Amino acid sequence: MSMQESPPAQPIFDYEASVFSAGRMDFAWEELSEEDRRQAYADWEAGKGLIGGNPHVRPGSAYLPEWGLNLPFFRALALDDLRGDNGARLRAELASDRALEVEIGFGRGDFLLDRARRHPEKLLIGYETKTKATRLMLQRVERYQVNNLWLSNDDARFNIPIVLPDQRVSLFHILFPDPWWKSQHRIKRLFSPPFVDLLAAKLRPGGILYFKSDVQEYGEMVRYLVEQHPAFLPHDPAGSDEIGDFALTHREAWCLKHNRPVYAFYFRRR
Ligand SMILES: C[S@@+](CC[C@H](N)C(=O)[O-])C[C@H]1O[C@@H](n2cnc3c(N)ncnc32)[C@H](O)[C@@H]1O
Repeated sequence: MSMQESPPAQPIFDYEASVFSAGRMDFAWEELSEEDRRQAYADWEAGKGLIGGNPHVRPGSAYLPEWGLNLPFFRALALDDLRGDNGARLRAELASDRALEVEIGFGRGDFLLDRARRHPEKLLIGYETKTKATRLMLQRVERYQVNNLWLSNDDARFNIPIVLPDQRVSLFHILFPDPWWKSQHRIKRLFSPPFVDLLAAKLRPGGILYFKSDVQEYGEMVRYLVEQHPAFLPHDPAGSDEIGDFALTHREAWCLKHNRPVYAFYFRRR
C-alpha cells in the first residue's frame, strides 16, 4: 500500500495561493503486456510524446536564448554554444564530486529553491518544460543569490540521457507529475519502462527516487513500474529521512489546503 504523509513544513518563499483543477480521479492503468512494453520502448526510441525538448518540436533548442546567456541555464543541444560559458561551467560542475539532486517538473520551483538553499554543499538541477516558469525560476535563483542550482526547459526525457553521466545522481525528485488522464495523451506521461531504465542508469548505487502524487492510482502505477525493475528496492518509507525538512511544492500546498491526501514513495537504487 502507498503511504499517506503527515503535513510537512510550510513553504518559506514568496508563495501565493492559486487555483488548481480539483482533478479527475478516474485514472486507470493495467499491468503491461509484452506488446505494451515493446511499444513503450519503440515510442521512446522514436521520441514520441516529448514535450518541447525535442528539437523537431521546438526550433531553436540547439541555441542558448539571450535571457539564459552566462546564467545557470542549459539545453542539451546547446552545451557547445560558445556565446555563453553555460556549457563549460555545467560540465565542470558535473565533473566535480558534489552530490547531485535532480527535480523533474519543478513548476513554480518552491521545493527546488528551498532544497538548494538548505543544501549549499550539493549541486541541484531542475527541469521544467514550461519556458515561462523556467525564466521566472531563473530570476528567483538570481534574487536569492543561489549558486548551486541549474535549470533547463528541455524535456527531461530528452536532456538527461545526453547531459547527465551514468550513476551521477544521488536523488531524483519527481513531485506531482501530470497524470495525463486522456488515453491519447498517455504517451506524455513521464513514467514508462524506458523512463525507469533511465532513472536506474543515472542514479548512483544507494541513490533514491522520491516520488509523490495526489492521484492514488498514478502512485500505484509508478510503484508497479519501479518495483518491477531489478535495479530498485521496494518502496521504503524510511527514505523520507534522506529528504528531511522541505518546502511544499505549489501542488502540495494546494492539496494541504483542500485536505487532499498525498502519497509519497521512496525507492532506493540497489
Ligand atoms: C502537475 S505539475 C507539478 C509541478 C510541481 N512539481 C508541483 O508539485 O507543484 C507537473 C510539471 O511537470 C512539468 N513537466 C511535465 N513533463 C515534463 C518533462 N518531461 N520534463 C520536464 N518537465 C516536465 C510540467 O510542465 C508541469 O509544470
